[in-house]
Amino acid sequence: MKTPNMINAKNRHQNQIKYTKYNKDLGDFGKGKTFFVRTYGCQMNEHDSEKIKGMLTSVGFNYTDDINDADIIILNTCAIRENAHDKVFGFLGVLKHMKQSKNIIVGICGCMAQEEVVINEILNKYKQVDFVCGTHNLDNLLSIIKEQMDTKKRQIEVLSYEGDVVEDVPVLRDSPYSAWVDIIYGCDKFCTYCIVPYTRGMQRSRHHEDIVNEVKELVKKGYKEVTLLGQNVNAYGKDLYEDYNLANLLSDVSDTGIERVRFVTSHPWDFTDEMVDIIASRDNIMPYIHLPLQSGSNKVLKLMNRRYTKEEYLKLYESIRKKVKNSSVTTDIIVGFPGETEEDFMETLDVVNKCKFDGAFTFAFSARENTPAALMKETVSEEEKMDRLHRLNEVVNKYSNEANKKMMNTTVKCLVTSLSDKDKNKVCGYTENMKLVNIKGPKSLIGKIVDVKITDTKSFSLDGEYVIIE
Ligand code: 5AD
Ligand code: SF4
Repeated sequence: MKTPNMINAKNRHQNQIKYTKYNKDLGDFGKGKTFFVRTYGCQMNEHDSEKIKGMLTSVGFNYTDDINDADIIILNTCAIRENAHDKVFGFLGVLKHMKQSKNIIVGICGCMAQEEVVINEILNKYKQVDFVCGTHNLDNLLSIIKEQMDTKKRQIEVLSYEGDVVEDVPVLRDSPYSAWVDIIYGCDKFCTYCIVPYTRGMQRSRHHEDIVNEVKELVKKGYKEVTLLGQNVNAYGKDLYEDYNLANLLSDVSDTGIERVRFVTSHPWDFTDEMVDIIASRDNIMPYIHLPLQSGSNKVLKLMNRRYTKEEYLKLYESIRKKVKNSSVTTDIIVGFPGETEEDFMETLDVVNKCKFDGAFTFAFSARENTPAALMKETVSEEEKMDRLHRLNEVVNKYSNEANKKMMNTTVKCLVTSLSDKDKNKVCGYTENMKLVNIKGPKSLIGKIVDVKITDTKSFSLDGEYVIIE
């Protein structure tokens, strides 16, 4: 049984990374059994869950979205903030009860599985967990499950060293229209508050030929949209090539003819003019950028190890707004970082007032075990953090409302993806600049890119009507 080790995880071993192909032949040991997956956290985890589903169905397991029907229950976990942990541990309590009346197998995958403290807690307190599989060795999941089923013994397999880049892992995609495509795994930025460089390992790019071929296959299958995924997509290629970067990749992916190309998440430090120019010049690269700010204070940015100043962020932001037509930009902001004073917080508000973001995900700082910020003295009380969060959200919501209002009465293109959650007589989809629209129109629009006239705007969504252009 291997357990992860944070100190080992901090060491980077570039020469350990191997590029391999998935070649598991485990027959059909899952035949007649069903499984359920619950996903926590970011888009990367959403896509990993599609791989979990792909691998399990490839050996005969059936996927169910009803947990009560499942023989195997897998939690694909997130470690980014303390409340993500709490949710998973809370749910393990529910599963303990379920296990008393039913013979089920419970497994943990994802970022929590890479944390030493979590593994120790599971080993000691959560006997209901039958297997753990870390993010670095997800491609070995089936062997772990098979071993557990054959021996009935608990399996914990988590690697401290960097994972390989494994191509051709089976994927069962959630959507037939819009697909996630990994381009870079891990992160080498080591922002001081962030656990990702430890749980997801070293920055490692996929070969660009493999990415472009995957997109070509998706086009053949009728996919309309791809979202290129990475913790820091702008670092794409740095670990592999001298002269091939995200700008080159965007251009090659755009050339496949896929109707929409998106990418998340961007890091201002690695975002070059060349990248802005390619986004601006291609109609099928969507004008939506998620550009985390984190703080508007240079002092706090430095403590966070973000590698840019407020002024540099604003310069990049303005260049994006100027060059990319009808763009929308969203951001992430943390309040209450150790050392953040009221003046620092006002600097953050100042940047928000200057940028007038289309939206922002806002968080109160939460110390993550073994990260550098966890060793800094917390200077902002929980009450103060909540107060700053509240004040920030008021400003953020004002601007997202304003940005939405600007779209009133315009006619925009939407990729219709499903029935609307709010009203089953409507469908819903996303505009090019990533606004959610609930659309009056027939079910037959699902899977198509159509013209929609915006008839009403809310804080977090728009209403619209399908327009037939003669
Ligand atoms: N505390 C609060 N927010 C955090 N984030 C990452 N780590 C922490 C933390 N320790 C936020 C950042 C990041 C987003 C995904 O989560 O804003 O961009
Ligand atoms: Fe975390 Fe910073 Fe890497 Fe983003 S860039 S994943 S915030 S370390």
